[in-house]
Amino acid sequence: MKYIKVKTYEELSRKAAAVIAAQVISKPNSVLGLATGSSPIGTYENLAKACDNGDLDFSDVTSVNLDEYVGLSTDNDQSYRYFMNKNLFEKINIKMENTNVPNGCAADIEAECKRYDALIEDLGGIDLQLLGIGLDGHIGFNEPCEEFVKGTNRVTLDPSTIEANARFFASIDEVPREAVTMGMQAIMQAKKVLLIANGKNKAEIMEKAFFGPITPKVPASILQLHPDLTVIYSEN
Ligand code: GLP
Repeated sequence: MKYIKVKTYEELSRKAAAVIAAQVISKPNSVLGLATGSSPIGTYENLAKACDNGDLDFSDVTSVNLDEYVGLSTDNDQSYRYFMNKNLFEKINIKMENTNVPNGCAADIEAECKRYDALIEDLGGIDLQLLGIGLDGHIGFNEPCEEFVKGTNRVTLDPSTIEANARFFASIDEVPREAVTMGMQAIMQAKKVLLIANGKNKAEIMEKAFFGPITPKVPASILQLHPDLTVIYSEN
C-alpha cells in the first residue's frame, strides 16, 4: 500500500487526478471505476481541465460507477448519475454511452445487480477504481456488516450514512434509505485502487481502515489486501 499524506484538498485533488491521468495515458481504453461524494469533486475538476487543454483523451474510456440511490431517477439532481454528468461526464470527451451507473429505478433491483456484475465482467474488469470512504468505513455503499458482500447488492443505509449524506439534500427526510452498490469482488479485482479522503473528521476511520484489523465491520479495511492500493489523505 502507498499511503500518501498531503497538506491540502487542492494537493490531494491534483495528485489523484495525476494517478488517473497516468492510467488513461498508458491505456487509452481503460475501464475506470468512479465514485461520488464530495472527495472526488476536485479530482474531477483537474481531469476536466486536462481534457480541455488537450492533455487527456477520454474518447476510448469506459466508466462504471460504484453506486446509486434506490428510487432516484437520472434527472433527479441528488442522483449519482446526475452528479457524474454534471461534475465529470459533461466536462470531458467521454462517450455518454460508455458511462455506466447502476439503475436505482430498475423495476427489479436484484436483476439490476446481476446485470451490473455481468457488465463489469464483460468489460474485462476495472483497470483503476477510485474510492472515497464514509465516516463508518463504507466504500461505495458497502456498510459495516458481519460478512463482506461479494457482488453488486441492494443495501439499507446506516443511520449514520443517512445523516452524513443529508448535507446534500434539502432535509434528512429526503435522503433515500436504500442504495445499489458494487460489491467487494469487483472492487478487489480492480487492477489498481485509489482511495482519497480529506478532513480531520476522517482521521479516526483512516487509521482503523488502513492500520487496524481487516474486518467487515470496517469495510474499507479489506483494501489492505489489495496488491496495488494508493491512498491519498489530507487532514485539512
Ligand atoms: C457516499 C458514497 C461513497 C463516498 C462517501 C464519502 O456515501 N456512496 O462512495 O465515498 O459518500 O463521501 P465524501 O467524499 O463526501 O466524504
